[in-house]
Parts: sequence; structure tokens; C-alpha cells
Amino acid sequence: MKVKDCYNFEDFRKLAKSKLPDPIFHYIDGGADDEATLKRNTNAFDDCDLVPSILTSVGEPDLKTEIFGRKIDMPIFLSPTAMQSLYHPDGDKASARAAEKFNTMYSMSTMASFSIEEIANVSSGPKLFQLYIHKDKSFTDDLIDRCRRANFDGLCLTVDTLVAGNRERDHRTGFTTPPKFTLESLMSFAMRPQWVLNYLTNKKFELANIKHKTDKGTNIAKSVIDYINEQYDPKMNWSDAEYCIKKWNGPFALKGVMSVEDAKRAVDIGCTAIMISNHGGRQLDGSRSPFDQVKAIADAVGDKLEIILDGGVRRGTHVLKALAAGAKACSFGKAFLFSLGAGGQVGVERLLHNMQAEIRRNMILMGCKNLSELNQDKIIYRR
Ligand code: LAC
Repeated sequence: MKVKDCYNFEDFRKLAKSKLPDPIFHYIDGGADDEATLKRNTNAFDDCDLVPSILTSVGEPDLKTEIFGRKIDMPIFLSPTAMQSLYHPDGDKASARAAEKFNTMYSMSTMASFSIEEIANVSSGPKLFQLYIHKDKSFTDDLIDRCRRANFDGLCLTVDTLVAGNRERDHRTGFTTPPKFTLESLMSFAMRPQWVLNYLTNKKFELANIKHKTDKGTNIAKSVIDYINEQYDPKMNWSDAEYCIKKWNGPFALKGVMSVEDAKRAVDIGCTAIMISNHGGRQLDGSRSPFDQVKAIADAVGDKLEIILDGGVRRGTHVLKALAAGAKACSFGKAFLFSLGAGGQVGVERLLHNMQAEIRRNMILMGCKNLSELNQDKIIYRR
């Protein structure tokens, strides 16, 4: 199987599985505890049906929208995800270049394997930076200043990771950063010599944005979970978020908003966007899915800030449903990481091509000329 044979999420997932050692594959694929929320994130879309309009002279639909002050060519973009060089040696560089080619947004994690400056050098496309608040507050100031100098368009602050979720697959596979060969996983590394060769011959694993602040998670093989639990501030609060918003003074989202009340408070403190997200089902298992919350949140604050749905998106029709329910755009993590693992930049481009084609085709079938025509009249919930 090759990238050109990948038509959907499962195809990319299978190809990535064949190329990535087990600990790496399962780090992407897994969720917290029983993975109930992970499953629900995608299944929630099936509890609602699209209702097309007919004979609307639809012609060629316009898929453009604007988020974080940047016009993008389709209403889906790449979620911030950590340590992308584990999935392909080009890591964030491949993702950022692919996103720029399709004029959609690339997002960088605090825990990226390339630095803010390195990515700014390879892409002038739309870029979002994801902040974690470390116990050492000077980390945050430093990251915000660097994003400004590197012309990032917006920031999002992750608010759902005060402690790390319980990802049992990672315990079983012995996932560490940098990866280390364990007895359990040795075979899966040995069966993927290309990955091992790439890993050994390319840029040394590092958390490039924070390595000058700490060697933890960079030189010492330990679980990323330990890193989160040691370094992130579990006492983060609304004042911290407000501090970041004021310091950045530009497009800003909280990532991980799940309740209507918190969405209203995000408006009050000056957010220009929120990302409805449960961290891809990797944190609080049993929490509600983003799609299950989007309508209520959009009804309350949809006219006051940009609503991004993050979680469970695999198909163009998922994006259509999310927009009809009230989101302005969607972002996805797992789907794009599998495409990165499957084929680097070529893989991510193929995924974005597929998504754009799906969204376009289904917009035509829905009789919608532009994204604003996707409103709540276009969906019916089954219960
Ligand atoms: C994760 C963190 C690092 O979900 O964002 O793995």
C-alpha cells in the first residue's frame, strides 16, 4: 500500500501502522482509560443527519473561511500535536509546508520537535502556536515573545491538560521520549528498519522550543506523561489565561473548552476563538464529545467568537455537520498524524487533498454555495 492508495482515515492509519514501531503508533492511536471518549468523538457525528437542499444553482462552492485573522481555503486545519519528528523525520516542517500548499492552518505544539523559528523559516502560511503553562512562568513569556517575532498568526492555550491522562497503551508498549528500545517493543522496531534508520540518521530527538529551559523530556528517556506532570502548572486559572491574552494582544483561543459557561467566560476575558476539544479523548475519559457540545456553545456565543471543533473528525461530512451545528472550522490531530507517518509531506498533502475534495463534493450535494449556508436547518439530530 502507498500514499496514493489512501482514500480515507483507515487507509492512512493502516499505512502508518506498517511504518511506525508499536510504541509510536499507539501513542497516536490511543486515548485515556477505556477510550470511550475517543470512540464517541467520531461516533457522535452519526447521531445527526445532513438534510440537503435541492435545485439551488449551486455551481462551484466557496470553501473559504477566516480564522485567527487569516483567510484559509478550507474549513479544516491541523491541530497542534507534539513530537512530530517521531512520525516522520521532517515532522513539523512537512506538516507546515503541506498546510501552506493548501492554504490552511498549521499549528505548532509547545512540545514540537522543531522550533518556532525553524518553522517560521520554512513556511509563511497561516500558523497557530499552542501554549502550555509551565510551572516556571518565564517559559510562557518566552514562547509568546518568540511567536510574535516569528509572525505566528494566533495562539491557543491548552486548558485540559493540568495532569496527563491515563494512556494505558503507552504503559504497555513502554513509550518514552526519546524512544527507547524495550524488550516488549524490540521486535516492532526491528521490523521497521526504515524508521530506525531515519531516527538514527536525522536530527536528534528534542523538544526544540523548550530545550534551552530544561533538559527534561529531551535528554532523559521518560514518559511524556511524567514530563507533563512535573512541568505543567496544575493551578493554572482564568487570570493566567487573561495574562496570556493581554500579553499576546492578537487572535487567541482557549483549547479544551467544553461547557457553555466556560465559553461565555472565554468571551468575557477577550478570547477571539475557542477550540471545543477533549484533547482527542486522551485526557478525561467519559467526557462529552466536541460535536455533542458544539450546538449549545454556538447558540450561546457563536456570534461573539470563532468556534473551532477539534476531535473525532475523519470525513468531509463531519466538517459539514460541525459547521451546520455552529462551528466556524474544524481541526484534526490523529487523521493528519497518520498521514504524516504514512508519507511525510506527501502524505499530509494527500490527506488535505482528500478532505478538500470531500468537503467540496458534499457541499454541492448539500446544495450549499458557501459555508455560511451550512446552518442548523441543514441537520437533524436523531434523538
Ligand atoms: C498528548 C499531549 C502531549 O496528548 O498533547 O500527547
